[in-house]
Amino acid sequence: MQRKRVAILISGRGSNMRALIEAARNPEYPAEIVCVISNRPGAAGLDFAKAAKIATQVVDHKQYSSREDFDAALHQTLVSHNVDLVCCAGFMRVMTPAILDHWRGRMLNIHPSLLPAYKGTHTHERAIADGAKHHGASVHFVTPELDSGPVVAQVGVPVLPGDTAETLAARVLEVEHPLYVKALALVASGTIHMSTSV
Ligand code: GRF
Repeated sequence: MQRKRVAILISGRGSNMRALIEAARNPEYPAEIVCVISNRPGAAGLDFAKAAKIATQVVDHKQYSSREDFDAALHQTLVSHNVDLVCCAGFMRVMTPAILDHWRGRMLNIHPSLLPAYKGTHTHERAIADGAKHHGASVHFVTPELDSGPVVAQVGVPVLPGDTAETLAARVLEVEHPLYVKALALVASGTIHMSTSV
């Protein structure tokens, strides 16, 4: 089996990145993590990646005058690492259609809601405010429309009485990690792919 070469894009803590790195230590896992790229120099996840001896790179969005220029630099970085698949994991940048077209069907994101519910930010607050009984997380292919690409896998958690955004976020995060590991395996092994007609 030829393992797929994966880049992880982060902006902060990187707990999903960590779960993917740990899963990919198993040589049977169908993906290897070849680099971690952050748009923020201070992202905490970079330290873990470095300690795990994974190549890290910062492409600081503040150094670019437009989204297009930033995306072009990000794209070049991905190409330079000879990447097959890209996993966004808490990567807080909206990307332009040019880069997304290039990585169409080869870029995944994890989103903290049961899509199509609660696209965008503050998902936990909104679920609680609505009185939702169920919440969760989704891994989906990235397409130009925010949080709207085809879903690869989802997992639900209950919303419990007395939940705050923090307690609910923690419950969701716990299921995000195994979900992303499973979803990347499904895509990297070719079990799931995005139809080009989407
Ligand atoms: C996760 O909740 C993920 O669903 C969302 O951003 C958060 C990132 O957390 N996209 P971490 O950096 O992976 O710990």
